[in-house]
Amino acid sequence: MLADKKHLSRAIAGALVALSITALVLSLVRVEDVPLPPTVKYGMVFDAGSSHTSLFVYQWDADKENSTGVVSQTLACDVQGQGISSYASDPPRAGDSLRECLEQGLEAVPAAEQRNVPAYLGATAGMRLLREQNSSAADQVLAEVTKTMREYPVAFKGAQILTGEEEAAYGWITTNYLLDSFTKYSPRAHAWLRPEAANLLGALDLGGASTQISFVPAGPGLKRNGSSRLTLYGFSYSIYTHSYLCYGQNEVLRRLAKQLIEESPSSSRVAHPCYPEGYHETISLASFRASPCTERPALPDAEVTLEGRGDARGCLAALRKLFNFSACGQSRDCTFDGVYQPPVRGQFIAFSAFYYNFKFLNLTEGQPLAAARDTIQRFCSRSWGDLSASYPQENPARLPKYCASANYILTLLLDAYKFNESSWKSISFQMKAGSADVGWTLGYMLNLTNLLPAEAPAWAKGQAPALWAAAVAFIVLTLALGLAALLLSWL
Ligand SMILES: *[C@@H]1O[C@H](CO)[C@@H](O)[C@H](O)[C@H]1NC(C)=O
Ligand SMILES: *[C@@H]1O[C@H](CO)[C@@H](O)[C@H](O)[C@H]1NC(C)=O
Ligand SMILES: *[C@@H]1O[C@H](CO)[C@@H](O)[C@H](O)[C@H]1NC(C)=O
Repeated sequence: MLADKKHLSRAIAGALVALSITALVLSLVRVEDVPLPPTVKYGMVFDAGSSHTSLFVYQWDADKENSTGVVSQTLACDVQGQGISSYASDPPRAGDSLRECLEQGLEAVPAAEQRNVPAYLGATAGMRLLREQNSSAADQVLAEVTKTMREYPVAFKGAQILTGEEEAAYGWITTNYLLDSFTKYSPRAHAWLRPEAANLLGALDLGGASTQISFVPAGPGLKRNGSSRLTLYGFSYSIYTHSYLCYGQNEVLRRLAKQLIEESPSSSRVAHPCYPEGYHETISLASFRASPCTERPALPDAEVTLEGRGDARGCLAALRKLFNFSACGQSRDCTFDGVYQPPVRGQFIAFSAFYYNFKFLNLTEGQPLAAARDTIQRFCSRSWGDLSASYPQENPARLPKYCASANYILTLLLDAYKFNESSWKSISFQMKAGSADVGWTLGYMLNLTNLLPAEAPAWAKGQAPALWAAAVAFIVLTLALGLAALLLSWL
């Protein structure tokens, strides 16, 4: 009987231990960890650029909406045709151009969610230029795209023209959000940790009509023009941003053509050092009036034929003349035209046209500067016959322009921004980060939908009580177990 009693008490003790461990484990599982069906939310942003418009649809899990890096890209849709500013003389067509992508965007969202989808349209340098030229035409274009977007069952939040500085800052936010570099939640410290400033990436964006640079400069509290202060997840950042209107690649190519034509007045054939030998293009001088970047001084009504020379050195020299470097005097903290810029610092992502041009030239694999220069020079010396035979798939309107664009990129990065042989290595030419395209749209949506809290998220602060509860449960269970064991040993 005594042996049986002992067996029984051991069995009871064993059962109690198992029960306590199970209870302990269960007490450690926080309510939030119990998987509930996730509520997916969506957002839509049209990027209305100078040469084309794209629609991006993003999605995120509503339960995690204040953490970093949880928004992903569901859809990217390219609007057919030109940018919305090209419809200045027929604004309703700007609205109509968006329909196909709006329909695709809606298909990407469950029907029950559509009415909750915040939808934005942000226009950039093409519309900034149109507004400068004819503000009532710009207003009409915005009114038409607004009218179209309101016809669809989404929560339309507005169509507006971003300033260059906003465009630059949102590109910087997108980049660092996608790379999860803003802040990390440390479960061990139960706190949001400040990232090393040096781990934040700078952003280099090259559009059709403007180009943007943004980065965190060295030195405390930069208090000059061009600095923006952002507070995200409880930390404050001082970033330098600048946007250069008329320095996007299309405007630069037009300004270059105009400069070459002005240098040989009254000639109907003008040598173009950046176009390939054997290529020629006839342009109407009246076309320069279409943009404030080239409208003055006005050229006579005439046609001029630009003849390619395939001269890389001459191309670089001609491009440099589009920048006023002497306006900086002796100042090192200056790019051109007297624009202040602190020394570049840290890693950079160069996206949009920086990427497309370098991708075509196979220069996105981290090649050193000397190799990039060499590749560009060799490409520029190839004849039009050779190029069109070698790249039959390439858009024939784009193919003759890579030499000019690539040399422009070199001039901008090296002469203006002052990257050098060694800091060149810290520029990564890429289009995507994670699964999303790098651009200003995601940062814009995150900001306008309050997905980027200034304060550290509340749910993180809520973890401490959960751990306290677990500790209390543990102590209570240990005491209970001890008592039970004591009780059994008396039996
Ligand atoms: C996210 O943060 C906002 C503002 O700080 C707050 O109103 C919202 O409830 C938070 N959402 C979640 C899921 O924690
Ligand atoms: C500006 O645009 C409006 C609307 O398209 C047009 O009627 C007007 O003639 C334009 N004005 C100028 C100065 O071009
Ligand atoms: C890039 O590399 C691919 C594959 O190696 C090659 O076919 C193509 O011609 C290269 N492009 C240029 C512009 O050199």
